[in-house]
Amino acid sequence: MFQNNCAKISHQHIKNHKSLVGEITVPGDKSISHRSIMFGALASGKTRVTNFLRGADCLATIDCFRKLGIGIEDTVDEIIVNGKGLYGLKSPSGMLDVKNSGTTMRLLSGILAGQSFESEITGDASIQKRPMKRIMDPLKAMGADITSINDNNCAPLKIRGGDLKGIEYDSPVSSAQVKSCVLLAGMYADSPTTLTEPVVSRNHTEMMLTGFGADLKVDHRSVTIFPDPKLEAQDIAVAGDISSAAYFIAGALLVPGSELLIRNVGVNPTRDGIIQVAKAMGGNISLENQRIVSGEPVADILVKYSKLHGIRIEKDIIPTLIDELPVIAVMAALAEGQTVIADAAELKVKESDRIMAITQNLTDMGGKVVPTDDGMIIDGVEELKSSVVKCYNDHRIAMSFYVAGLTLPGTMLFDNANCVDISYPTFFSDFGNIIKK
Ligand code: S3P
Repeated sequence: MFQNNCAKISHQHIKNHKSLVGEITVPGDKSISHRSIMFGALASGKTRVTNFLRGADCLATIDCFRKLGIGIEDTVDEIIVNGKGLYGLKSPSGMLDVKNSGTTMRLLSGILAGQSFESEITGDASIQKRPMKRIMDPLKAMGADITSINDNNCAPLKIRGGDLKGIEYDSPVSSAQVKSCVLLAGMYADSPTTLTEPVVSRNHTEMMLTGFGADLKVDHRSVTIFPDPKLEAQDIAVAGDISSAAYFIAGALLVPGSELLIRNVGVNPTRDGIIQVAKAMGGNISLENQRIVSGEPVADILVKYSKLHGIRIEKDIIPTLIDELPVIAVMAALAEGQTVIADAAELKVKESDRIMAITQNLTDMGGKVVPTDDGMIIDGVEELKSSVVKCYNDHRIAMSFYVAGLTLPGTMLFDNANCVDISYPTFFSDFGNIIKK
């Protein structure tokens, strides 16, 4: 499904290193950064955002909202969103381009479904292959006129909204992007909208929209939103992204002699599966200084080198660590015994087919992995060997296999290490700062 772009991009050498020691602060959370722009745009007044993630995905969200008539300033210290209220967006002059960002694509489609103007929205080659039927179905049921321009249930999409009706929707997938899309459209509907998902996915939309003044009711796996809220601008301090912290957690667990304190990380229970899994695999990891920042649980994470063992990872924990499974697979590849990852078919429709990308790269490094329909089975080996990492233009594959490389003598090659810019532009220099040679 996704082409290996190895031939097109010059190889980049990444030197490997010794133990990881010291303190690190990771950049702001990607999911919260996106939502701070979107919800700020739909609120009245100035929303001020500190520790905003200036990764390519979140910058694409800023671009799209500027095209929709929202003034957004970057003062270096903060991002200021000059919100225009629920009905203040203007018709964009051209196609909205989300680049590589699935969150922008799906959440913004929900907002566009509530607008009376017509818009077209697309993204890069990866986005144009990712499934959009999962949002088209509920938006159509609400009365939006939404079509896939190439008639393949993928982007580009043409959306003409307005006159939406509230629905009760049983989502076939646990996906915060689908949930958020439907809830955002639900703000423009004529009656309440309820979405039920098989397993609870990340709940930033529910928490943040409530903070902006929306009326939401959460009942186990169901969320109801009441229409026509009056959203008010907020000050948001974005916590560090646990999905970025995951690479430091895995690195410190795997590289002998490591001891790291990762400061100011969001540890929302709908996102903290990596910590549960690290503990279950025998990892020495603890949460210090737990607190609430801008409504979200935050902690400093202390992690030390540990001998890991294999476990089963399946069912309800999967949505809480879906983005961390590539680096968890690297941990499993070097753990004692077998790790089974199941109920994670969603891996196939991320920025790359991650079951394929993980299998390919681990196999190239001498790991033992068997792909399955909904995950993989990994038998731990004593050590991996150097290889050329095929990134598939997927930031999380590149970062996960950089961590694998930290366990090796010699150097690793990457076909496109620059793709880390999607969620973590300072990834390599941040690792450079805590590596003890
Ligand atoms: C996200 C939801 C998840 C996650 C993505 C960010 C969000 O996707 O993988 O990186 O911010 O809502 P799904 O909703 O498709 O699982």
